[in-house]
Amino acid sequence: MAQRILFVCLGNICRSPAAEAATRTLAERRGMKLTLDSAGTAGWHTGKPPYGPMQQAAAASGIDMSDLRARQFAARDFLNFDLIIGMDHENIANINALRPANNITPVRLFTDFAPESGADHVPDPYYTRDFAGCLDLIIKASSGLLDSLCPADRP
Ligand code: 4NP
Repeated sequence: MAQRILFVCLGNICRSPAAEAATRTLAERRGMKLTLDSAGTAGWHTGKPPYGPMQQAAAASGIDMSDLRARQFAARDFLNFDLIIGMDHENIANINALRPANNITPVRLFTDFAPESGADHVPDPYYTRDFAGCLDLIIKASSGLLDSLCPADRP
């Protein structure tokens, strides 16, 4: 069972911190103990809090992201996490480009955990401006991720 999970997007101010916070909130409700973090493949926003409109969409669903701060994904993350989850195909390519030799840490697309959504990536709300739709997809994928880690909890 994966215990340490890292969510990765491009800027680490919208999708991956929302995924981290949503998964933390849902895991706490299920009594599941996980180590969660998020990072961006780009370092533009290092040290900054999540983007305001993303925080507001999350808060409307009872998810607090305010304490999170952006950081850049690094090769050492392959050693420190059991599962790395990207939001889109570009994230996956950029993550795998830093994979150390002989490392076999699984890298998955977040929407793999929400097959019922029909989505094959989490669209970037920094560009689409659909923060509520993004959060809705993230919550579905977070729930599916937790189901996959703990199938007995499935309703
Ligand atoms: P994210 O969204 O990858 O979901 O955090 C973005 C945030 C900022 C930028 C791009 C994507 N940016 O170009 O600054």
